[in-house]
Amino acid sequence: MHPLDQNDPLAHFRQRFVAAPGIVAYLDGNSLGRPLTASVERVAAFATGRWGGRLIRGWDEGWLDLPLMIGDELGRVVLGAKEGQVAIGDSTTVLLYKLIRAAISAAEPGRDEIVIDRDDFPTDRYVLEGIAAETGCRLRWISEGDVTPARVEQIVGARTALVVLSSIAYRSGYLADVGAITDIVHDAGALILWDLCHSAGVVDIPLDALGVDLAVGCSYKYLNGGPGAPAFAYVRSEHQQRLRQPIQGWLGSRKPFEMGQGYEPAEGIRGFLSGTPPIIGMLPLQDTIALIAEAGLAGIRAKSIALTEYAIELADARLPSATLSTPRDPERRGSHVTLDHPAFEGIMARLWERGVIPDFRRPTGIRLGLSPLSTSFEEVERGIDAIAEELTH
Ligand SMILES: Cc1ncc(COP(=O)(O)O)c(C=O)c1O
Repeated sequence: MHPLDQNDPLAHFRQRFVAAPGIVAYLDGNSLGRPLTASVERVAAFATGRWGGRLIRGWDEGWLDLPLMIGDELGRVVLGAKEGQVAIGDSTTVLLYKLIRAAISAAEPGRDEIVIDRDDFPTDRYVLEGIAAETGCRLRWISEGDVTPARVEQIVGARTALVVLSSIAYRSGYLADVGAITDIVHDAGALILWDLCHSAGVVDIPLDALGVDLAVGCSYKYLNGGPGAPAFAYVRSEHQQRLRQPIQGWLGSRKPFEMGQGYEPAEGIRGFLSGTPPIIGMLPLQDTIALIAEAGLAGIRAKSIALTEYAIELADARLPSATLSTPRDPERRGSHVTLDHPAFEGIMARLWERGVIPDFRRPTGIRLGLSPLSTSFEEVERGIDAIAEELTH
């Protein structure tokens, strides 16, 4: 066993994940997390017992409450949010649309600008471009470099309605100073929406304590929900009454089963739901939330830092011709490490063939996603050695 794994207090959690034959190093847990055995069993038991056995009665026996129940658990264990502020459902893309539209519609007259990062994940940019075209809002782009408090301070002002940013940059892994930026945005009189896709489950960003207004995030990365698992939305309780989301479906309405005329939103976070909740898709989240509660977010973050630190140390020594595109400062780094090299695109297929699975980000980046509960230090070493070998072939 690798000595770093021997000394890792979280090492035993790896056994809780489904074994993947032929995998030498899975370094893409920040794109698609591995399944927990408990989740596979939960989904199978649900299919035969609850779905197969209870059939339509299941909706009255708890299914309708699951989006908010799991949301509350996620809020308590992962997001630092007290109950009634988190709902599970839709994709991150759709939730971005819903919450951004809600925030823009409620903005004071004269506040018609939305701030966004030019390097943010495409879906965030595309949704905002669509909303700008639809509403006439103007987009203000942070165009160069990492999203630092100074850059945000420079761009916000009396016309800012909303700032939309990612807590961790999907490409570089830069970890934004969520607290400081949230304060700056509030001082400018605007609201902030954080995309937590790359931080939920690996970095503690306590939303209530930091005063965050709105947040979204997916559940298939470090939350191991499975491909296309539904996302989560956080709406700070003090905004829930005032903000109206635009996709007025029956299950977000006050009395869905009365089938009445005229939409009236349900009170609280339920009013941010739209259609029938994706029940099967949200089941695995329960197992990951329980696992995170058991391991503790502080320990998870400590291992995440140790894994990325080790990856950087090995890359410095064994891949000297690659460029590190991720911050060296652990305080400003999430749980993935991106290396750039002009030959990386050409070696990806061979890496996957030999069971080494990082992902590739154009034009020249290999991204190593290190998921503290399922990634070992040995995998990091094997992965970087394989990249070094393929580069010299
Ligand atoms: C920052 C960020 N936002 C959003 C998404 C994806 O959104 P969706 O689940 O709607 O495809 C990703 C996916 O990797 C992401 O990294």
